[in-house]
Amino acid sequence: MIKILFVCLGNICRSPMAEFILKDMVNKKGSYKEFYIDSAATSSYNELERAGIYGEAKNMLKEMKIPFTEHLSRQIKKEDYNKFDYILAMEQKNITNIINIVGEDKENKIFRLLDFTEKPRDISDPWYSGDFYSAYYDITYGCEKFLEYIEKNNNILN
Ligand code: 4NP
Repeated sequence: MIKILFVCLGNICRSPMAEFILKDMVNKKGSYKEFYIDSAATSSYNELERAGIYGEAKNMLKEMKIPFTEHLSRQIKKEDYNKFDYILAMEQKNITNIINIVGEDKENKIFRLLDFTEKPRDISDPWYSGDFYSAYYDITYGCEKFLEYIEKNNNILN
């Protein structure tokens, strides 16, 4: 089983969108049993502890017909580093914050999601930009490319 943790600043917009988009992709491929997928925040803002998906992010998932279940935001913790095989951040500053919490990336598990594409870059924060469409399309593309990478490197998705 491949264990994937998506991480963003607040765990109410980008990382839960990524969690449910990737879950939908692997469900459609019939390979959901091969994956464990979760998401977490780098921030410890009180108001973001155990919060649901932000309304506009939820609307985006509904519009794109991506199923989702109840979500409660949480901060990434040190033990997550050992628990997960891939820790996929939305932007470079998430990586700095993740390393502050989990320590050095000794096993090379931490990436930006769009590092798996031909144009590595950050996914900008829709909480500030208001652009949930760009976040959705960037995340979807990153997840497609990440699964292609997994297919090449593991014999589980034929
Ligand atoms: P996210 O967006 O990192 O994509 O979940 C944010 C949500 C909330 C806040 C920042 C970013 N906030 O500062 O409350």
